[in-house]
Amino acid sequence: MQLKGKTVVVTGGSDGIGKHICLKLAAQSCQIAIIGRDAGRLEAVKQDCAALGAPRVETYAVDIQDTGALEGAATAILQDFGGVDVLINNAGIWHKTGPLDSIGADMLLATVQTNLTALMQLTRFLIADLRKRDEAIILNVASKSGVVAQGGQSVYTATKYGVRGFTEVLKVDEQETGIRVAGLYQSGTNTDMFAKANEDVPNHIFTEPEDLSDVVVFMLSRPPKIWLHDVRVEL
Ligand SMILES: NC(=O)c1ccc[n+]([C@@H]2O[C@H](COP(=O)([O-])OP(=O)(O)OC[C@H]3O[C@@H](n4cnc5c(N)ncnc54)[C@H](OP(=O)(O)O)[C@@H]3O)[C@@H](O)[C@H]2O)c1
Repeated sequence: MQLKGKTVVVTGGSDGIGKHICLKLAAQSCQIAIIGRDAGRLEAVKQDCAALGAPRVETYAVDIQDTGALEGAATAILQDFGGVDVLINNAGIWHKTGPLDSIGADMLLATVQTNLTALMQLTRFLIADLRKRDEAIILNVASKSGVVAQGGQSVYTATKYGVRGFTEVLKVDEQETGIRVAGLYQSGTNTDMFAKANEDVPNHIFTEPEDLSDVVVFMLSRPPKIWLHDVRVEL
């Protein structure tokens, strides 16, 4: 897809990988709709994107676990931009590693709702509009944990396997439309995701989010006869 001027929705664009995806898309002159919770961080990313050349950036401060609020954000995005070309489902949270019964009931629910339910709901809200484009993309930022079972990550892994399953079925369901669907399955990335869950990991050896975002732009910007369905990025 030729990215210049395209409207891209990025969930979790206020921090980490999503923030760097927004910055790279801004440099490609995309219009960007950024979803996150923290209004201050969203505004900072918006300013940085504008400085990098994004012709239009709007932010939507919602907790994506709240389906009503998420639907409101999707409606506002469609009104503000008049349509969407690319949806990047990226927002996600981590639960501290441990056996299943060490993961609290609230944390289990929040992980499923954020990583999987909200991703499906937002896709559901936007898919009819995406089908109107000659060319549209849904890119789901999953994880290596959507492909490999790693100990202590039962709930997180369940959500990411779920995202992979959802991604695979969307590919089949949308093959007669202009929507192309892809999954990104990356290993550890140097963001604050683990620290937010009080997890101590060797973050400094992990992939840099700036570099991962280059992979995302590469995936989106392939010519019409090339599509990278699944990309695995590992250290
Ligand atoms: N970091 C890694 O090692 C790694 C590896 C593989 C896959 N991943 C996946 O990559 C994606 C991005 O992770 P990251 O490392 O960039 O994490 P991060 O730095 O913690 O950023 C997460 C983003 O998601 C947003 N978010 C979280 N919960 C939300 C909610 N309920 N409502 C709205 N926004 C919410 C956050 O928004 P606010 O800050 O505004 O709350 C933030 O913008 C996730 O799906 C994650 O599972 C990460």
